[in-house]
Amino acid sequence: MIPFIATLALVAEQPSFTPGEIWLDKNQVHINAHGGGVIKQGKRYYWFGEHKIEGPGGNSAQVGVHCYSSANLCEWKDEGIALKVSEDPASDIVKGCVIERPKVVYNKKTKSFVMWFHLELRSQGYKAARVGVATSKRITGPYSFTRSFRPDDSESRDMTVFQDDDGKAYLFHSSEGNATMHISLLSDDYLSTSGKFVRVFEGRYMEAPAVFKLAGKYYLIASGCTGWAPNAARSAVADSIFGPWTELGNPWQGPVEQTEISYDTQSTFALPIKHKGKDTIIFMADRWRPKNPIDGRYIWLPIEFINGKPILKWRDKWTLDKIQ
Ligand code: GAL
Repeated sequence: MIPFIATLALVAEQPSFTPGEIWLDKNQVHINAHGGGVIKQGKRYYWFGEHKIEGPGGNSAQVGVHCYSSANLCEWKDEGIALKVSEDPASDIVKGCVIERPKVVYNKKTKSFVMWFHLELRSQGYKAARVGVATSKRITGPYSFTRSFRPDDSESRDMTVFQDDDGKAYLFHSSEGNATMHISLLSDDYLSTSGKFVRVFEGRYMEAPAVFKLAGKYYLIASGCTGWAPNAARSAVADSIFGPWTELGNPWQGPVEQTEISYDTQSTFALPIKHKGKDTIIFMADRWRPKNPIDGRYIWLPIEFINGKPILKWRDKWTLDKIQ
């Protein structure tokens, strides 16, 4: 028989996710990586996100993109600021600009890490509607800013980058006044778009795209378009990345007063992992705190499937071992 104290130690060892709670890093500081994305390199995961500060102005980029690393996805080490804002007023990423939803992909051909993000130029609100690109040879940075532009000459606000298993990568971005999403194939070096793109979910005002592939199908979870305020999430599936995409409705299950605001969350990324031989997708979302952005919370939950549809169910606490 295992003594009581040893049993407690075993239980305590299993790290758990507690969606919506303060998430402390290894320095006991609430993680500051909002609108983020995660990539795996070797045995570690790297989480990149917007570094926010206190107070109503805390959503603008005063610092840059923060990076954390972890072996088990629950306990995160602060790796510092991967992309710093510039002090140079002539720079597109001068302090006070808006940097949102950073996503990092690794380009095998150039052996570089490439970071894409939504960029708004300082003092221009959300008018610029550009993407920014930065690169680094080391995953944790420092990343060097390359340039900002409108992909395929189109507006680009909420976005994500999806890397397919054939090495091709795609930018999903809200365009045309956020009404229509564009899916743009990136160039082979991932530094620009290739010119090949499709318009999807025309007039549907989809934001906050999170994309994943499972058993040969492509899935998207996104939000509607209500700024920092939560709304009912959407989901969609396609056999080919360029579509046609079929909408599958709100993936959230639960009481309507929660599902219509997606449990006060907005999607940011879908992270594929293999845990004990089983493919699982972790849904990553933000619970924004626009009055005090640094206090924004993270909601990570396993995506379940019912009749081929991705489903999200609230859990106060869960571990990778006990998803089902
Ligand atoms: C949200 C978007 C966020 C941020 C915010 C600004 O809809 O998802 O990334 O841009 O609007 O109001």
